[in-house]
Amino acid sequence: MKLLYTKGGRVAGIRIEGLTRQFGSVHAVEDISMEIADGDFLVLLGPSGCGKTTLLRMIAGLIEPTAGRVLLGDTDITYAPARDRDLAMVFQSYALYPHLTVERNIGFPLRAARLPKREIAERVREVAGQLELTALLGRRPKELSGGQRQRVALGRALVRKPQAFLMDEPLSNLDAKLRTATRTELSALHHRLRSTFVYVTHDQVEAMTMATRVALLNGGRLEQIGTPTEVYDNPASVFVAGFLGSPPMNLLSARISERAGRLRAAATDLEIPLWAGSDAARDVTVGLRPEHLRVVRDAEGSPAPADTAAPADTAAPADTAAPADTAAPADTAAPADSTARADSTAPAGSAERARLRGVVTGVENLGGEEVAWCEIGGQPVALRGPRPVGLSRGDAVTLTVDLDQVHLFDRTSGRRLAWQPTADKPSPQHTPSTQRLPQRPAAAAV
Ligand SMILES: Nc1ncnc2c1ncn2[C@@H]1O[C@H](COP(=O)(O)OP(=O)(O)OP(=O)(O)O)[C@@H](O)[C@H]1O
Ligand SMILES: [Mg+2]
Repeated sequence: MKLLYTKGGRVAGIRIEGLTRQFGSVHAVEDISMEIADGDFLVLLGPSGCGKTTLLRMIAGLIEPTAGRVLLGDTDITYAPARDRDLAMVFQSYALYPHLTVERNIGFPLRAARLPKREIAERVREVAGQLELTALLGRRPKELSGGQRQRVALGRALVRKPQAFLMDEPLSNLDAKLRTATRTELSALHHRLRSTFVYVTHDQVEAMTMATRVALLNGGRLEQIGTPTEVYDNPASVFVAGFLGSPPMNLLSARISERAGRLRAAATDLEIPLWAGSDAARDVTVGLRPEHLRVVRDAEGSPAPADTAAPADTAAPADTAAPADTAAPADTAAPADSTARADSTAPAGSAERARLRGVVTGVENLGGEEVAWCEIGGQPVALRGPRPVGLSRGDAVTLTVDLDQVHLFDRTSGRRLAWQPTADKPSPQHTPSTQRLPQRPAAAAV
């Protein structure tokens, strides 16, 4: 397909400043600020009721904010009528005119703008070709499939050559296969047009696959904004960590305490060596991605039973054995030869690792992969890996995780605590002067 539209150097960046909307006592959107750069594909992601549609409609001019501003380029459009904004909105319901043909539905905004008939026909033909709707131009919406209707709604937005596209869950009425195909088409369209897209969804797969940046909303507030990789790899909060991933990040309650000059995060059957130093004990939430967990196996390749597994490189030396509240048995410091290193899923010799001990409660077959659900000290933990993961319900297991894949969050605020393990001596990040856990997590600024 050829490039049909260019913006001719127009600046279509959108800036939102302190945008707020209340409906009576409901705080639908609270003090959200963000920059959406020209050409961004920004996805507003979050659970039902978190304020996505309200935020998008304020950008579109369909709802007035209670406070805050919306700027398009340098122009304050906070109170400009929707029709003057040069933004095209695609709704979840498509909102097609049932009595109009596909051709007239797509051309509607141009007729409303009183463009010459010849130009309208030409633009409609171009857009229909681009969206593979040419053969359907004479049909009415009720004679179309859901996917075709979705493309007509998209065509009606495209034909205007707007400065930006605003889309509210446009794929949610499509079946899974068509959704996947349309996702790819939308990404390709964005790539071709290089227009600004603001796209609302509660589907993390849509967000991760299409977005150049993702803004995660929770309870009307912005939790984090960043590239898909940034929000997945460095979630700024427990909410973001628990929203992304399938299954999402395991979140475990633990306590950081000092023992023999070393800080550790620990809970029943969980032990994570952190760094040398001392600090007041504090409650944290430990985050571990299911795909980062590895099974420690014995020489035969079976999962090492929880009461014998203790790879040399994770065994705590006797003098720093687990703090009292971890209830780790004495064999934590088992000799190196008690665990064979036959298993490539738990490589030997690298940095120290987190250790978890528990029991497998079930295994789910996802086709190419499996998820093993375990119980670790009464807390559920998912492990995901290529099928077969080699675990069965009832197996006693020891799991490990590299320290640089351990996420820590403040239990009270839920915000990320930045820290950086090094091979020989883990130390907190960004706190060179105090060597303490940062009071203000580095990732808190969104
Ligand atoms: N017109 C309204 N009057 C009263 N409350 C409203 C109105 N519109 C939205 N709300 C409330 O504001 C909050 C945010 O709604 P919004 O539609 O923006 O959520 P959403 O993130 O789009 O959810 P969904 O994924 O279900 O579409 C919700 O609690 C909702 O009930
Ligand atoms: Mg909505």
